[in-house]
Amino acid sequence: MYEFLAWIEGSALGHAMRGSGVWTYALVNLGHILGVASLFGSVLILDLRLLGLWRGVALPAITKPAVRVAGVGFSLAVMAGVCLLATQATEYAGNPFFYIKFPAIGLGLLNVAALNFSRAWREHKTRDLSAREQKRLAVFGGTSLFCWLTAISCGRMIGYW
Ligand code: HEM
Repeated sequence: MYEFLAWIEGSALGHAMRGSGVWTYALVNLGHILGVASLFGSVLILDLRLLGLWRGVALPAITKPAVRVAGVGFSLAVMAGVCLLATQATEYAGNPFFYIKFPAIGLGLLNVAALNFSRAWREHKTRDLSAREQKRLAVFGGTSLFCWLTAISCGRMIGYW
């Protein structure tokens, strides 16, 4: 891991981040937070709906916009996050929050992949789901909340270690 951190810190991106003025890191950090806010804001509404809140609102009315905003937010968070990391990557070696954050993101993505493969998710736009299928989707929603909350908490804590 240390080799990877040293490599990204020594990359052209790392040099550009460190050499382009004091405001660059702040603005990229702002981009990271806007990405995280868009991701988590949309995922929170979607996951709470999967967990059974607002049953009066049709599921597809929430999933369509939420998935798009979450996708854009995640992409922004990753692009800005890689720039932040390259700035002083070796500083994070040995930081426990760093080593919890990325597996949490990985697990969150695996959960998204598994959700997309589930029959209930694939068919929720075309028919009403049975109680059993709704329970399955609730498990995905709960897992998602756990993963993204862990990633956000650890991301915030990294700087305090
Ligand atoms: C490849 C993806 C990502 C990379 C490389 C990355 C990297 C980073 C880095 C280097 C920091 C600065 C830590 C510090 O020194 O304080 C940071 C902050 C943070 N990250 Fe990420 N991150 C990524 C994705 C995410 C995602 C998906 C989330 C949320 C689910 C997230 C949440 C946060 C939060 C909340 C902060 C604290 C920001 C602040 O306090 O200003 N990150 N990230």
